[in-house]
Amino acid sequence: MIKINQKSDSPLNHKTECLILPCPEEKKPGGTLKDVDTALNGTITTAFENKRFEGKSNQTLLLSCNGNLKADNLLLVGIGKTKDLTAEKICKASGTAAKLAEKSNFKSASAYLGCFEKIAKGPRYGEFAGAVAEGAGLALYHFDEYKSQDEKDAPPSRLQKLTLVAESKTKTAILTKSIDRAEKIVSAVHAARNLISHPGNTATPTYLADHAKKIARKSKITCKVLGKREMEKLGMGALLGVSRGSHEPPALIVLEYFGTAKKKAPTVIVGKGVTFDTGGISLKPGAGMDEMKMDMSGAATTLSTLQAIADLKLPVNVIGIVAAAENMPGGSAIKPGDILKSMSGKTIEVLNTDAEGRLVLADALTYAQRYKPKEVIDLATLTGAVIMALGHQAAAVIGTNPAMIKRLKESGDATGERVWELPLWEEFDKATKSDIADLKNIASPGVGAGSSMGAAFLKAFAGDQPWTHIDIAGTAWGEATAYTPKGASGYGVRLLIHYLEHRRTK
Ligand code: BES
Ligand code: ZN
Ligand code: ZN
Repeated sequence: MIKINQKSDSPLNHKTECLILPCPEEKKPGGTLKDVDTALNGTITTAFENKRFEGKSNQTLLLSCNGNLKADNLLLVGIGKTKDLTAEKICKASGTAAKLAEKSNFKSASAYLGCFEKIAKGPRYGEFAGAVAEGAGLALYHFDEYKSQDEKDAPPSRLQKLTLVAESKTKTAILTKSIDRAEKIVSAVHAARNLISHPGNTATPTYLADHAKKIARKSKITCKVLGKREMEKLGMGALLGVSRGSHEPPALIVLEYFGTAKKKAPTVIVGKGVTFDTGGISLKPGAGMDEMKMDMSGAATTLSTLQAIADLKLPVNVIGIVAAAENMPGGSAIKPGDILKSMSGKTIEVLNTDAEGRLVLADALTYAQRYKPKEVIDLATLTGAVIMALGHQAAAVIGTNPAMIKRLKESGDATGERVWELPLWEEFDKATKSDIADLKNIASPGVGAGSSMGAAFLKAFAGDQPWTHIDIAGTAWGEATAYTPKGASGYGVRLLIHYLEHRRTK
């Protein structure tokens, strides 16, 4: 992870390989930019005149300073109109700039925060500075653990150090806080991306359990892992059913974090941890099946959220539960038509072994009830249908409590990890009823609404407290954006941290 530090300095005097200057959208260079432009003999004015750079969101302009500034190079990055500025926009601009600086072979860079001193008063300044650190940290992610020879011969250039430069000396304390918070969040998101990027033959249920134990060892978290035997004792027939076709043993991983009085009911976060989803006997088509190593993204988000909560010492009680199993076809695998008895006592007719996420979650949601939770959130790459509905732009939220969904939406908008509500109408509940068991794991043909149907099934196990299901099949994985790489995005960690930070005040 990139090292981030701070300094107070002026843009004209600051020595660096690359000075990143966030610029609001304007007709011509203003404020600090005007002074810098004068030193550069009007180069920036010309760029504005030619419309090569006007400060529009994520626009960039890289200039060589030729000895006119102490900095070797100047990298302007647009942040759009000042009145519309948000931390999320800054995060994106900073990610864009950091990636360009790295591509330009710089080893270190400095981001000048002077423009925020004028437009962001009080805690907002810290928030904006933190967004610069977070955006750069999130954008500079590389997963190269499996690369060997080629890259050793010609290692790719990496930006190793970012300095946040404040104009005034009074900002030291607030910057220390903002950088520390950003580093903790970035580290948790990177950890989630790593877990998701590892192939199925590395990131097995046992690997997830070991990772959870490591998180617990380093923090005020306790970790408990239930194996097959314990699950059998608890009657977790649904989770065990999914894992039956695989040689990899399943795991139910529990992380407990108490940041406030123990008697206060916790928020329980439940994650789908299918470490590889072949579909089972209802086998998936071969093309693109490799991507199903990401089917434990809900688990990765759950574990990393717990890691971040503990690192940030949030004054909340949170339990993380991961239902981990591999979904394989095998001699002992469950078959279409098989009936499983879940921990709740409800029986499930498995009409499609590829709808396995809801099966593993059913038992994890029942297990969550022992914590008498204040609320339950589950995260799962549950349905391909959510990609049809929302693409990779938002996760679906489906739940029983409008106030909870509203708060999740607010956190989604603030962090850029957007959520969009899909309905949970009673017709969907009806469509989960089986002719010969209590429930069936897929609806009859023609019902449609795949994501809502998945949620309707989960609702039967979610308990009476407020509950929200977040379908992250689209957002967990995709093309690169300003601060997410191609592949695993680590979606959900920043959403949930924001949610929990604001939850306790409401
Ligand atoms: N893991 C998949 C969902 C998925 C699809 C995640 C694409 C990421 C990208 C899930 O287990 C699944 O296979 N769901 C089925 C459900 C169907 C059989 C009711 C689906 O979406 O097709
Ligand atoms: Zn599946
Ligand atoms: Zn799946």
